[in-house]
Amino acid sequence: MQKVKLGTTDVEVSVLCLGTMYMGTKTPADISYTLLDRYIEAGGTFLDTANCYAAWYEGGFGGESERLLGHWLKARGCRDKVQIASKVGFGYTGTEEDPGAETSLRAEIIIRECEKSLKRLGIDCLDLFYAHNDAGMLPLDEMLGAFDKLIREGKTRAIGASNFTSWRLADALSTSAHQQLAQFCCVQQNHTYLRPVPGFRPELWPPASPEFLDQCARKDITVIAYSPLVRGAYMHPDQPLTAKFAGPDSAARLKVLGQVAQTRGVSANQIVLAWLLHSNPQVLPLFGCSSIEQINDTFKCLEIKLTADEMTLLNDAGCVKR
Ligand SMILES: NC(=O)c1ccc[n+]([C@@H]2O[C@H](COP(=O)([O-])OP(=O)(O)OC[C@H]3O[C@@H](n4cnc5c(N)ncnc54)[C@H](OP(=O)(O)O)[C@@H]3O)[C@@H](O)[C@H]2O)c1
Repeated sequence: MQKVKLGTTDVEVSVLCLGTMYMGTKTPADISYTLLDRYIEAGGTFLDTANCYAAWYEGGFGGESERLLGHWLKARGCRDKVQIASKVGFGYTGTEEDPGAETSLRAEIIIRECEKSLKRLGIDCLDLFYAHNDAGMLPLDEMLGAFDKLIREGKTRAIGASNFTSWRLADALSTSAHQQLAQFCCVQQNHTYLRPVPGFRPELWPPASPEFLDQCARKDITVIAYSPLVRGAYMHPDQPLTAKFAGPDSAARLKVLGQVAQTRGVSANQIVLAWLLHSNPQVLPLFGCSSIEQINDTFKCLEIKLTADEMTLLNDAGCVKR
């Protein structure tokens, strides 16, 4: 699998990132191990988790995904072969033995939660640590000061921003530059082939707008697209789309997506992932899966070489031209 560096850092990751959000809760441990093993076998190295995964799922308190990854890393002895990204910012209940945290990116929470993530994962240093949620819009010098400290102390190799708006990302980059603090090297944003409905109020999860993507390209910030498969929606066209993606251009985009997929004899999911990988600059898909069939199906996107004509067709679908 192709490897790329995150932003201007020397953290090299595989282009497909495996999401482990439900591992240890919705996805049982034995299936999770099978998926992780298969991902490594296929050349994947980039694993995504968060301190709060998956506190909202039945029976979950948060910390389950990190603990499962920690056990798997130990069992396989493969820490040096993977890059591990975790996140801080969303609240979770936790348990008596392993308490959670409130929703916040205050400095003391960033520092404390990093230690807890390292402990659950059984490692000394993360490869990437994200600010998960910027809804509080806390002062950026405090937030970046804490992330900078973690880098200087060797607790994480790089830092990223998730769910930031364009203007907050711009402010964060200029705060880092002016105060000589570590800079976000990548962003993790909800992004897929379908475009969000105009007027969609982002609230906690602002999608990657064209302006946001341009801003990242100009600043050498790697874009990582989470939930690119819209949680299975492309494979179930009979089910209604979530309101966020059921916009005026979604029917036109789904039609072209279906045509390209049918001509090539592949699935819509695979074209969506190939489209992200062929975008300029390249976008790294952060995908989820719950079975071996799904993960094997996902890897087939790596064999697809979209032509310039196909990219134009896909990019232009549903666009209004003057
Ligand atoms: N930064 C953030 O705020 C944030 C938010 C959300 C997620 N994330 C990260 O992104 C990762 C992926 O998120 P996601 O699970 O929402 O992503 P997704 O890739 O959009 O959806 C994954 C789901 O799509 C379905 N699927 C996958 N392959 C399929 C196939 N071949 N055929 C049919 N259905 C298929 C499965 O649903 P079923 O299991 O129902 O079959 C699978 O669980 C997470 O694990 C997490 O690491 C980050």
